[in-house]
Amino acid sequence: MANDERIESQINKLEEKFKNSGQDLSSYLDGLLYQKYLTYWDYIHLDTLLSIQVPRTHFPDEEIFIMYHQITELYFKLILHEQKQIVDDRSQDLAFFIEKIRRINSYFKALISSFSIMIRGMEREQFLRYRMALLPASGFQSAQYRMIEIYATPLENLVHQSERDSFSKENNIEELFEHIYWKKGATDLSTGEKTLTLKQFEFRYTPRLLRISNQVKSSTIYHKYLQLPKKLRENEELISALKDMDMNANVNWPLMHMGSAYRYLAKENKEVEATGGTNWKDFLPPSFQKIIFFPTLYSEEELDNWGKQWVDHIFNPENRK
Ligand code: HEM
Repeated sequence: MANDERIESQINKLEEKFKNSGQDLSSYLDGLLYQKYLTYWDYIHLDTLLSIQVPRTHFPDEEIFIMYHQITELYFKLILHEQKQIVDDRSQDLAFFIEKIRRINSYFKALISSFSIMIRGMEREQFLRYRMALLPASGFQSAQYRMIEIYATPLENLVHQSERDSFSKENNIEELFEHIYWKKGATDLSTGEKTLTLKQFEFRYTPRLLRISNQVKSSTIYHKYLQLPKKLRENEELISALKDMDMNANVNWPLMHMGSAYRYLAKENKEVEATGGTNWKDFLPPSFQKIIFFPTLYSEEELDNWGKQWVDHIFNPENRK
């Protein structure tokens, strides 16, 4: 098609488009005439992005800590973006399901392989000082982390391990939510008193987390899998992708993260209290929490050994340097 013809055809299509919405093409063409060219920095809001790393102390390594948390939250957002599409999907298309889980896994893998930025990338002496200016804030208060769990699996699978057998989908959402594992982790079991870190988190996010829990109460990723026709449910590629996701979210990321807690808080037999106030050595190990998004995909033995490699990981002298 010659250039003139192409432009004419484009104008015709535009005219059609604007007419259909009761709009006047000529006014929009004026807008196009006066509009500035788009730049890279405006498109991605670069100035805003680079202005939100604001340390609370003078220690240079605090900036690394802030930035890596922000990077992680952006990846969490990418993960949620894919999860929401699975939750909303009604097509039961196998390729679509596998592709979304594959993307989620690639985001988790990026996070897992970059965690050395935390484990090895800051001076311990600086960390131990600037963290005191951050009390009682903790990554524990990451709402997106909690949302990833809620979109992945029914709440009964997130109930604390010690009580999980006494709860089922017959319990209402509010009840299940109150017994979620991370609430127990941040509660003094002898007095029943919640940590300030937990109280603040609950005050800010309970309505939102409950709304999402209700919204996905029969459409989490696990539900979506179980609702597939039997033939699709048995697809090996899908099963393997889902198991990878479980491993990434509930074993490998938590292990890398726990590695940083050991590096900074547990050296020389002198434990340091966590800013969120949990008993972190009991709270963080995946084998203690045993959070499993897709439990029927595993054998009894796999379930029993869930996250056991943390022992090897943490006690490997290479990882404790
Ligand atoms: C030097 C680096 C880090 C250390 C020493 C550390 C330490 C801890 C500790 C001790 C806890 C238990 C809660 C508490 O008592 O505060 C915790 C929880 C948590 N942190 Fe970190 N953290 C680090 C980096 C990060 C990063 C980069 C993220 C990314 C967002 C993060 C996200 C979380 C999450 C989501 C939890 C809750 C885990 C769960 O409920 O299973 N942390 N962290």
